[in-house]
Amino acid sequence: MRPFAELHVHLEGTFEVEQFVDIARRNGVTPPSWDVDELRSRYAFDDLQSFLDLYYENLGALRTEEDFHDLAAAYLKRAALAGVRHTEMFFDPQTHLGNGIPLEVVFAGFGAAVDEARRDLGLSADLILCFLRDLGGDAAVETLRAAMPFRDRFVGVGLDSTEVGYPPALYAEAFGIARSEGLRRVAHAGEEGGPENVRDALDLLHVERIDHGNRALEDPDLVARLRDERIPLTVCPLSNLALKTAPPDLADHPLRRMLDEGLLVTLNSDDPAYFGGYHDDNVRAVTEALALTDSELDLLARNSFEASFLGETDRARFLAEIPGVPGPLEAG
Ligand code: HPA
Ligand code: ZN
Repeated sequence: MRPFAELHVHLEGTFEVEQFVDIARRNGVTPPSWDVDELRSRYAFDDLQSFLDLYYENLGALRTEEDFHDLAAAYLKRAALAGVRHTEMFFDPQTHLGNGIPLEVVFAGFGAAVDEARRDLGLSADLILCFLRDLGGDAAVETLRAAMPFRDRFVGVGLDSTEVGYPPALYAEAFGIARSEGLRRVAHAGEEGGPENVRDALDLLHVERIDHGNRALEDPDLVARLRDERIPLTVCPLSNLALKTAPPDLADHPLRRMLDEGLLVTLNSDDPAYFGGYHDDNVRAVTEALALTDSELDLLARNSFEASFLGETDRARFLAEIPGVPGPLEAG
């Protein structure tokens, strides 16, 4: 199987209905229904905010280290089956802090699952701490400071939640601190917000990748910059369909134009429990809808490792498995 890195997946968005019910039951939390089909019938969204409202509501069921472990472990197992060999996973500590869960509990649970995946699944995995835009810039700074005792448990910071009304400038201080601490930096931008958010995330937050970035295509100068500077976009096709941030027919998805423009695009699942598919489902769906060729799929696989925060040795090891990339012998 062609190896891929997944670079845009929210651990909280991998909370499957069945697992939600199990965890709610063991924690004595009463869900809106005990019926999984009825719960799943609520998974129809008009936009980003209508999804986020349900996503945050469900996270109220998570209480213990075991819950956080089990959530991440289930995703990691499924990702390995999908052919993902390295994953950089977002998590939202502010949501759990708001629910009264200490950071120690979140880091211990997710951290244990990461260690097990490396040991038992041969899956390389790292964590990226996301700031919730709608809680503002000061809260982002406070969250980062509170997380520094766990610095060895995460490789970078990201920015997610409601985009419109919360421009990148608000988080410049938090991202500045992250940079000075040697943390890698990414941000959701151009998902619902305009191309100016993509530009400001690059200029004001010094991010190294853009999550989504679809609306960057509205600005030709920005497209040229993304291409020239080889700035990765982590694209999430099934998420875009579910949240109506791309045309309703996947055949019209901007991925085709991004590839044709020579942008460094990668394929990702975003919130697979909510949007109808994991990494392999996304690959399958766009392969069919956009008639991707084998060499385009190889390119997408290569891009995923090039855009990752892996060290050079690991990156080269994965790249050597993908056709079109010289192996160590040929490279010499
Ligand atoms: N966009 C913004 N914030 C998010 C998302 C998303 O797709 N998923 C979880 N938080
Ligand atoms: Zn996302």
